[in-house]
Parts: sequence; C-alpha cells; structure tokens
Amino acid sequence: MIVTSKAILETSLQAYKKGNPFAIGAFNVNNMEQMQGIMMAAKETNSPVIVQVSRGALKYAQDLYLVNIIKAGAELNPEVPLAIHLDHGNSFETVKRAIDLGFTSVMIDGSLMEDSKTPSTFEYNVKVTAEVVKYAHDLGVSVEGELGTLGGIEDGVGSGQTHLTDPDQAVEFVERTGVDALAISIGTSHGAYKFKNEPKLAFDIIEKIRKYLPDTYLVAHGSSSVPQELLDIINQYGGDMETAKGVPLTALQKAIVCGINKINVDTDIRLAATGAIRQFFVENPKAFDPREYNTVARKAIAAEVKKRMEVFGTAGHRDEVPNWGLAEMKKQYNS
Ligand code: G3H
Ligand code: 13P
Ligand code: ZN
Repeated sequence: MIVTSKAILETSLQAYKKGNPFAIGAFNVNNMEQMQGIMMAAKETNSPVIVQVSRGALKYAQDLYLVNIIKAGAELNPEVPLAIHLDHGNSFETVKRAIDLGFTSVMIDGSLMEDSKTPSTFEYNVKVTAEVVKYAHDLGVSVEGELGTLGGIEDGVGSGQTHLTDPDQAVEFVERTGVDALAISIGTSHGAYKFKNEPKLAFDIIEKIRKYLPDTYLVAHGSSSVPQELLDIINQYGGDMETAKGVPLTALQKAIVCGINKINVDTDIRLAATGAIRQFFVENPKAFDPREYNTVARKAIAAEVKKRMEVFGTAGHRDEVPNWGLAEMKKQYNS
C-alpha cells in the first residue's frame, strides 16, 4: 500500500504522545536488491517503511528504473505501508520531477544551496522550502525540510555547536514554511566516518525541539550505526575501513525516547552488501554470476534492515498506519 510519509510518521508521533515511542526507518535504495532486502525485512517484521531515493541514486539507476523497482516492491507486498520519498532534494525542479514520477513524499534540503555543498542563509531556506510545501501539499505530497547543517560535534566536519539546529529558529522555520517533517542537526553526519572520538549526540536539542514543536515529525539523518561486525567482515575479506564509526543503536533508541520519528539509514545497507560480496568472492574465487553474489548481498541487507526495524520499535506497527495516500492528503491539506 503506497501512502504518504505523513501517514506513516503520524503513527510514530501518536505513539510518542501516548508514551510508547517508536521510530520509522527510512532506508535508501539504489538498486533492485536493496529494495527487495528492505521489503523482506518489512514483511517479516510487520513494519511500515519509508523508502528513500537520493539524487545520486536517481542518476545512477536512471529515475524511471528506480521508481518502477520501488513500485514493484509495493505491488508485491500490498500489506506493507510504504512511502516513496525523495532524499535531500536540492531544488524546486528536482522535487517537481520526483512528484511527477509518483513520489508521495519529498525532502527539500534548503540548508544547503542547490550545489548541495554550500551552506545557505535562513531566509533562502525558508523561501525555497515554503515554495515546495505549497506545490507539494496541493498535490497531497508530504514535505520534509532541514534546518542546521549536518556534521559531527567532534569530527571536524563543520564547526560543532554553531551547526546544530537552534530550537527557537526551528519554530520560526516550521511556522513560516508549513513543513510536515523537520530534519535536525544533532551531531550525526552522513557516511561511515562519523566520529573521531566517542559518539556524542545532542539529546537536549531533540528534547527542546520536540517540546516546542509537538506536531512536527522530527528526522535524524546520518544515523547509520556502522556495526563493528560488518566492519570486521569487510576488513577480514580485503577491505580497509579501520577507523569507521557510527551512531550506536542505543543512542538512536535514546533519540527516539527524546522525540525522533524518522531515522535515515543508507551507509549500513552499503556496508552489509559490501561485506557479503567481499566474503563471497574470497570464499568462491571461481564465481562470476551476479545472481549469486547479489543474493548474499540481498540477504545481508534484509538482516540489517530487520534489526533496525526491531531496535527502532517499528516492528508490529504495520496495521496502525492510516490509508492516507495522495488523494486523501490532498483533501486534508486543502480543508
Ligand atoms: O544523504 C545521503 C545519502 O546517504 C545518499 O547518499 O548521495 O551517495 O546516494 P548518495
Ligand atoms: P547514513 O550515511 O548515516 O546512512 O545517513 C543516511 C542519510 O541521512 C540519508 O539521508
Ligand atoms: Zn541525509
């Protein structure tokens, strides 16, 4: 069942309000095996899921291939509530293209300029985000914005505190843009090398923003846990990722208790596939059939996603998600 991300995230928010918080994993997809692995995990754990696609993924797979792979996953698993989400949209045009393709949810990341590198001003962010919200809501599509710049507290990416989301500014941002979901900077960062020292998240910032914005879905990007056991497999079978470090699952659980609703995971899926494929080739030096190594990769992806659905508490919440597709949300936004 393809729904908007609002339908899925509302389930998480209501659970938080009832004192029983859980979060939704949003998993990045670049190819068929990743989609299949994610759907295997969602089905096995009775979880709703947000499947997200970056601009890099759209370019790599060609957008039509990727969207149709995702739609096939939804059609083959009609019992799984699924939102198709654009990750880090950089411009109105990118968002429009995603909506034309059938995405039910989009992110406009106005914290950065269109090059996705240069930090923007608050006014630029408000302007581009509000423009997207107006366009998307008219069509029933959910919108995620971002305030603050991702980058670790201690890892030298960015310069610490000044890049973390300011809770007062978050209130102004949500009021002026009308976003459904807000990605906040709390010390996480993208990729496999998140911390040089001990992982540290700004839980106080989540708590404040949750208190100030009780009806906004809060999103943690850069939330892969970079499990040591996956690094060990990669390193044992010819890789070199000695210094990689992620956000421990226990810290993510604490972030959920503080009010996070959506947790973005991409790197862990990449690590699972890489480890499985590396091991496969070392153990099967004569192998050359992509169906064989992609099968072990798919299994490893499914296991990692399943673990997160359990740890984030998503498992078992499938049937609580309302059937809010684009038509229903169009009515709700316009009422
Ligand atoms: O937000 C970043 C995601 O991990 C997507 O990464 O642009 O390499 O596909 P990508
Ligand atoms: P990771 O690199 O930690 O998996 O983050 C993914 C992400 O935030 C996608 O938007
Ligand atoms: Zn991200």
